Amino acid sequence: MKAVIHDHYGPTSDLKIGEIDRPRPKEGQVLVRVLATSVHADIWHVVTGRPYAMRLFGSGFFKPKTAVPGTDLAGIVEEIGENVTRFSPGDEVFGEVVVGMQWKNGGSFAEYVAVPENAITKKPACLSFEEAAALSTSGLIAILNLRGSERLQTGNHLLINGAGGAVGTLALQIARAEGLQVTAVDNKDKLEMLHTLGADHVIDYQVNSVESLATTYDLILDVASTLDYAACKRLLGEHGKYVLIGHDHYGRVGGKWLGNLPHFFALLARSAFEKNLPKLNFEIDHVSNLEALRTLSEQGKLKPVVDRTFPLSEVTEALRYLEAGHARGQVVLTP
Ligand SMILES: NC(=O)c1ccc[n+]([C@@H]2O[C@H](COP(=O)([O-])OP(=O)(O)OC[C@H]3O[C@@H](n4cnc5c(N)ncnc54)[C@H](OP(=O)(O)O)[C@@H]3O)[C@@H](O)[C@H]2O)c1
Repeated sequence: MKAVIHDHYGPTSDLKIGEIDRPRPKEGQVLVRVLATSVHADIWHVVTGRPYAMRLFGSGFFKPKTAVPGTDLAGIVEEIGENVTRFSPGDEVFGEVVVGMQWKNGGSFAEYVAVPENAITKKPACLSFEEAAALSTSGLIAILNLRGSERLQTGNHLLINGAGGAVGTLALQIARAEGLQVTAVDNKDKLEMLHTLGADHVIDYQVNSVESLATTYDLILDVASTLDYAACKRLLGEHGKYVLIGHDHYGRVGGKWLGNLPHFFALLARSAFEKNLPKLNFEIDHVSNLEALRTLSEQGKLKPVVDRTFPLSEVTEALRYLEAGHARGQVVLTP
């Protein structure tokens, strides 16, 4: 089968298209014919091998342990392994390939991939395969962080910093569906889209600084990871929460060894005694969260924004487009 081959860390232009054996589903796995998969920041990290510390999280230290990138998919079940109970050949599905830490190659940049059955669920019929792929990794990041904040409640006021990208456009819609009031921050070219997606207020980050606002928020979701937590505390009151997603803007922020990790771990350590920082939750139930995303889509409350779709053969162009940093919503690949 056709696949993207990543045999060493380096520039995205080093990726090649090659022919490899089609995988066989093991026990508990499903073989999926991939019809769409998403290109996102963690793919860029794993392909380039940067920050270097990332390689300690399972992707392989000197070279990638597995050769085919990709963490998510939308497609059709081709074959099922032993003891698979939730799927049959022909089912349309979407979800993750890599369960847990996304800093490793998962194999979905290919025509077929074998995935654990507990990492995927049935695709919403109302979404295209491209939209469903855009909902997988980004949608899980959005819903897990919103739910984990314990502030996803009707009437609460949420500020999303970096609302116009892949995670932000989904977080905005999920929050609106739950009855939150949303202030969306991004550059001026994305503000009209953010209004259309349901934002109550929009802010151009090049004109206004979030830290100098006079409003109080129940939750600040810092997708762009450009805010100063100490300054945000003034906007949160006693019970508000600050959630950092972690974004090093494709190597433009943070060092090449550690990237954004020191900032992330410093906040994690402080979360033990700071009321404004939520505790990290390691118990992630992919299926129930994917099903929540599907339900919201079927109710017409959640529709992923797909900026551009590239064919698999143009994976380098897709990553370059992502790296330029101005995509609206998600960038998608189709085999
Ligand atoms: N999307 C995924 O599937 C995925 C997967 C794994 C991990 N993540 C994590 O989630 C992070 C965010 O992902 P994403 O895919 O949503 O990123 P993204 O698509 O790059 O979105 C970030 C948004 O922030 C905006 N922005 C840039 N500078 C800003 C500033 N100073 N203030 C406010 N907004 C600013 C960007 O707009 P402009 O640059 O156009 O101005 C862009 O709209 C990633 O870095 C990664 O760590 C995401």
